[in-house]
Amino acid sequence: MSQDTSAAARAANASVSLVDNTSGNEASFPLIGGTDGPKVIDIRKLYAETGYFTYDPGFVSTASCESKITFIDGDEGILMHRGYMIEDLAENCDFLEVCYLLLYGELPSPDQKTKFVNGITYHTMLHEQLHNFYRGFRRDAHPMAIMCGVVGALSAFYHDSTDIADPHQRMVASYRLVAKMPTIAAWAYKYSLGQPFMYPRNDLTYSEDFIRMMFATPCEEYEVSPVISKAMDRILILHADHEQNASTSTVRLAGSSGANPFACIAAGIASLWGPAHGGANEAVLNMLREVRSKDHITEYLARAKDKDDPFRLMGFGHRVYKNHDPRATIMRKTCHEVLDELDIRDEPLLDLAMELERIALEDDYFVERKLYPNVDFYSGIIFQALGIPTTMFTVLFAVARTVGWVAQWNEMVEDPSQKIGRPRQIYTGQARRPFVPIAQRG
Ligand code: SDX
Repeated sequence: MSQDTSAAARAANASVSLVDNTSGNEASFPLIGGTDGPKVIDIRKLYAETGYFTYDPGFVSTASCESKITFIDGDEGILMHRGYMIEDLAENCDFLEVCYLLLYGELPSPDQKTKFVNGITYHTMLHEQLHNFYRGFRRDAHPMAIMCGVVGALSAFYHDSTDIADPHQRMVASYRLVAKMPTIAAWAYKYSLGQPFMYPRNDLTYSEDFIRMMFATPCEEYEVSPVISKAMDRILILHADHEQNASTSTVRLAGSSGANPFACIAAGIASLWGPAHGGANEAVLNMLREVRSKDHITEYLARAKDKDDPFRLMGFGHRVYKNHDPRATIMRKTCHEVLDELDIRDEPLLDLAMELERIALEDDYFVERKLYPNVDFYSGIIFQALGIPTTMFTVLFAVARTVGWVAQWNEMVEDPSQKIGRPRQIYTGQARRPFVPIAQRG
């Protein structure tokens, strides 16, 4: 009999009392502990009992849901998926193994893995008419714009997996999304080049197939480098899921209204695109190119600290990690491995990034604010070494994060306590006033 670890079952006898100094009224609310991490104050009855809302722009102190998928300890720099440390998963698994873990909660047995890999492999093709969606974009369209459009359009093609009340249809949609993202992403890149789309191949692994669809042409056989496919697989693992980040929260909020999974993931892609989130990997490369050389680091760090200057040290800082992002540590190690294995001896951008990191981590401004490199700081350098253009960096993030989004979306749909997300506000606009007809306005 599996242990019921739901929040309700774990509601500690403890509670937190709120004393209203204006009225003298007091209300108390249950304090709930999870498996690990901060306890939560269950304020679901706060408004009913006090008439007050909480106010938390950016949800800095707000838990939006209960989840069993990913745990982050920002102070310790810990990231776990279903209880397994990211370091162990990155070292010992391939991406589809981690996908199975995120979706089903356990690492697969050999037979389960074979079945799952086949399930994904045989869903990698796209409906032929989806070619037409690409034709509607300019060739210089940002590939993330294409990803938003094409993924959202999938709901017009796969009507047999949009009934979210049916667990089987939810899983079919989840498989389709994880399976088709590399094809959609690779075709966005091919479209920008004016090259023909490459069809997926069932005899290749997920990462090999993705790389081949991006770089092969119909004119000759294309041999996928094991170095590049191994690096790609690890990078996908590092980006697979990350608790309730902005894009995952977007997927959950869209899904809470009952929207179909393809529409929800398209919303997640749109949110990920922002430079404060998944768009940061592209912004880091552009920043390093703007900094140009070590001689300019002092100038740019000064700009990053200047509140009047919009320049930020991209790839640095994180809402949760106030210690090293464990993914950045693995990414930096992978960066060195890939450059060594590709025999790229002097990568000036890597040297510049490492010097920038060294100086920043000795600077009081960054130390006091606990700003460390995050997952995006080194990923762009690896992507560039793999021959991936800068505009495709966030697309790769979206390909990887799709499994996290669908796992969190399924968990939200299956959560008996889930309701449509509908935050309130504090209103500071005009008080009620009489209407003035236009003839009487100055
Ligand atoms: C991802 O949430 C996730 O898990 C996201 C992610 C995932 O896997 O899903 O991990 C992926 O999005 C990683 C983050 C990628 N974004 C960037 O690298 C963009 C640069 N970083 C910043 O924009 C910022 O650090 C955020 C957006 C990541 C976090 O912002 P917060 O938590 O809202 O922090 P904040 O803006 O309140 O910053 C606190 C202080 C401020 O200074 P003070 O007002 O206290 O004086 O730190 C400063 C900020 O100005 N600061 C920075 C900075 N990041 C924060 N100053 C210079 N450069 C930076 N990068």
